[in-house]
Amino acid sequence: MTVTTPPPDPARAPLTVSGAHGEPSREPDGAYLDHAATTPMSAAALAAFVAEAQRTGNPSSLHSAGRTARRAVEEARETLARSLGARPSEVIFTSGGTEADNLAIKGIFWGRRAKDPCRSRILVSAVEHHAVLDPAFWLAGHAGADIVLLPVDGDGRIDLDALRAELAAHAGETALISVMWANNEVGTVQPIRDIVRAARPYGIPVHTDAVQAVGQAEVDFTESGVDAMTVSGHKFGGPVGVGALLAKRDLALDAVLHGGGQERGVRSGTLDAASIAAFGVAARHAVECLPDRAARLSALRDDLIARVRAAAPDAVLRGADPASGDRLPGNAHFTFPGAEGDSLLYLLDSAGVQASTGSACQAGVPQPSHVLLAMGVPETEARGALRFTLGATSADSDVDRLVAALPQVVARAQAAGLVSGRAIGGMA
Ligand SMILES: Cc1ncc(COP(=O)(O)O)c(C=O)c1O
Repeated sequence: MTVTTPPPDPARAPLTVSGAHGEPSREPDGAYLDHAATTPMSAAALAAFVAEAQRTGNPSSLHSAGRTARRAVEEARETLARSLGARPSEVIFTSGGTEADNLAIKGIFWGRRAKDPCRSRILVSAVEHHAVLDPAFWLAGHAGADIVLLPVDGDGRIDLDALRAELAAHAGETALISVMWANNEVGTVQPIRDIVRAARPYGIPVHTDAVQAVGQAEVDFTESGVDAMTVSGHKFGGPVGVGALLAKRDLALDAVLHGGGQERGVRSGTLDAASIAAFGVAARHAVECLPDRAARLSALRDDLIARVRAAAPDAVLRGADPASGDRLPGNAHFTFPGAEGDSLLYLLDSAGVQASTGSACQAGVPQPSHVLLAMGVPETEARGALRFTLGATSADSDVDRLVAALPQVVARAQAAGLVSGRAIGGMA
């Protein structure tokens, strides 16, 4: 038996806009510890969204209403580019991170293949988000791609020697490399500059999914040396449904969406001026606040980790050691032996704490995380995963609430795990 009681009210704590510091404020009840899933919109981004949404005008129209909308889009393009160390002409707006990842993987593969049909290999880390893995495997099923999953160590960090060996053996057949800037489950930051250094002698383009990194780590597109980078607005105080692929101008990139030819002809579709304006504001705000926020969140995360360990002594922290500097400041991820992650999630939710197992369900059946499995975590342990992620609105009171609920929640989830383990033949 697994505890699967639906939460009484899955909504997060209601948000109100304070406006004072550009941060949303929050009703005091409920601890929202799932900022890696989505973040509240900042007050400044919300104001920019509302102002622009009240106007009519297609940014591609030539009349004055269209030109006004175009101005908002181009200002946001400049702001986003400046915030992320890119040129405005390198920004391709999309509907979010998933679309930008699809454009990168499919667009670069097709672009490279068109020039050299031998380039069938796509190198991706084994811990990528499904927004990267699934288009890569789709290309394997439909377009003759060969997927190479690059291994990671026990912390989720890519094995650079394996990458170098793969390139030494197969550079001439390689279309692209895609390795995320930071992992969405365990928060491990990848050595992106080393990956670029390994790829550069062979002229192989590198894409990075920086969805989780922006607003949590310093991200500079040009300085990193990557050829393409994915970002998403709702992960750092912008709206859901807007993102961008930053792509160097000389990168061979085929279109995925065809139509009106917007965004350099590689991403057709009417631009959403309101969301894009808010996205630009959120990016500037996230980057300006980064030094203070990262310091505050690291301290809060370290406190959370210490207090979770005290409340549940058999909990195992997964991902890079926080002291290494290779972990996102807002990420804490544990496995709890003998408990199912979804049981922990629902029980915590009933206690007013929102967290995530970090991994996907398939047809309603919770799956052990491919990230943890790639890190060498045994499947039985991977099933007990729970991720806590902090952001702009996180406070000490969120951690207080978590650790107050945790001992009882873990005991109940472990008891449920024991029962279910017996029911299915001791597989707890
Ligand atoms: C690493 C990573 N990539 C891509 C995505 C997808 O982004 P979006 O929700 O904007 O489609 C997510 C969302 O969770 C993510 O964490």
